[in-house]
Amino acid sequence: MPLDIVIGTQWGDEGKGRIVDLLSAQADIVARYNGGDNAGHTVTVGKQTFKLHLIPSGIIHPHTLGVLGNGLVINPATLLSEMEMLKNMGVRVGPERVRLSYAAHLITPVHRALDQAQEKARGKSQIGTTGRGIGPAYTDKAARRGLRLEDMLDTQSFYDKMIAHVKGGNIQLQALYQAEPLDPEATAREYADFARQLAPYISDVGEVLYEALNSNKRVLAEGAQGTLLDLDMGTYPFVTSSYPTAAGALVGLGLGICPVGRIIGVTKAFQTRVGAGPFPTEVFAETAERLRGSGANPWDEFGTTTGRPRRVGWLDGVLLRYAVRVNGITELDITKLDILTGLNPLRICVGYRSGGKEYATLPMGPTDLAPFEPIYEELPGWERDVQSARTRSDFPKEALQFIKRIEEVSGVPVRLVSIGAERDQIAEIA
Ligand code: IMO
Ligand code: MG
Repeated sequence: MPLDIVIGTQWGDEGKGRIVDLLSAQADIVARYNGGDNAGHTVTVGKQTFKLHLIPSGIIHPHTLGVLGNGLVINPATLLSEMEMLKNMGVRVGPERVRLSYAAHLITPVHRALDQAQEKARGKSQIGTTGRGIGPAYTDKAARRGLRLEDMLDTQSFYDKMIAHVKGGNIQLQALYQAEPLDPEATAREYADFARQLAPYISDVGEVLYEALNSNKRVLAEGAQGTLLDLDMGTYPFVTSSYPTAAGALVGLGLGICPVGRIIGVTKAFQTRVGAGPFPTEVFAETAERLRGSGANPWDEFGTTTGRPRRVGWLDGVLLRYAVRVNGITELDITKLDILTGLNPLRICVGYRSGGKEYATLPMGPTDLAPFEPIYEELPGWERDVQSARTRSDFPKEALQFIKRIEEVSGVPVRLVSIGAERDQIAEIA
């Protein structure tokens, strides 16, 4: 079977988790290919809300295998506590259900300390990272001095490598950032214990996925973060250090150029961003409070990983079109359409204006968005609650018009529309 890929079209937090959960009903393997515990994927099933940072959202379906590919940076402490959390919620997570790539990189306390020290040192030009050590772990990977999961399989050499890693990190922490050093022995001991626990899960997942695809199994790749946070294609330097875009799935899962089926882009019905960086359609005051929510509900716009209030704005059609192009998106799923109920009029950004000129596409990618002012199109809102809609005909005509406009602006069909956090609060439009 061809590989299907789910990706975020925005700055992360599009609701990929609930879409992956849904699609996983028909998948044999669900595989994360990028990022680390900076991700926060939420799935609500009945009274249970799962907040996943590393393990693929497909794991909640008992028949799936969850894979963490070589493109990830893995904090073993987070992973083990997530496994514990899942066990306590009744989800099996033994080595028969979760596989970790030997080539994924480890996040250590050194990386977290460096992430936080580097953010502090950036002062006013902070990126607003999640502080999870993501950037420093990928830096070590690119510098060819990182620790990989396979290193954990040789107990003695792993202990020595950890000691050398922490000592090296301490030099940076102290000399460059005047930060507190870490205890090499205590850290190495802690990681030796993680290694013991995780060893049975480590394998060549590329081989597992290759065999699965060749024997007609259904594999779903789950992207973390989003297109606009991609290291190359995003709003650099306000990005993450991995490749959330569709091509990243092949690299990050150890697959070659293989047949790809659906490339499913997930977009919210509006725009959000957590952390710094350009955001042309950002709104403030009353509209912002409406879109963000009060924080009382788990689906309100507050970070799953950091709890920070998210910046909110109108849907940016220029950036959505860009995401369709750089990912090769074949269909869109829209999340949180219900949040727009009662807002009138609604807006979609359909172009940009800069220096008296109008642009339908970005002349130089999304890096420097500051000079661009959005050109909005206004659409009528709706008052009727849409949370019980399950098919096209259940929606008010204004909501269908809004969805149709997203299809026209993006150039791809909309398939699913979510209208609530619950697993079944989803409507099939196409
Ligand atoms: P999910 O998978 C939203 C953002 C951070 C920051 C930038 C860099 O839940 O959609 P990093 O810690 O990665 O170095 O931070 O990227 N960021 C996310 N924003 N959702 C995420 O993941 C994110 N992961 C990272 O806020 O702006
Ligand atoms: Mg999130």
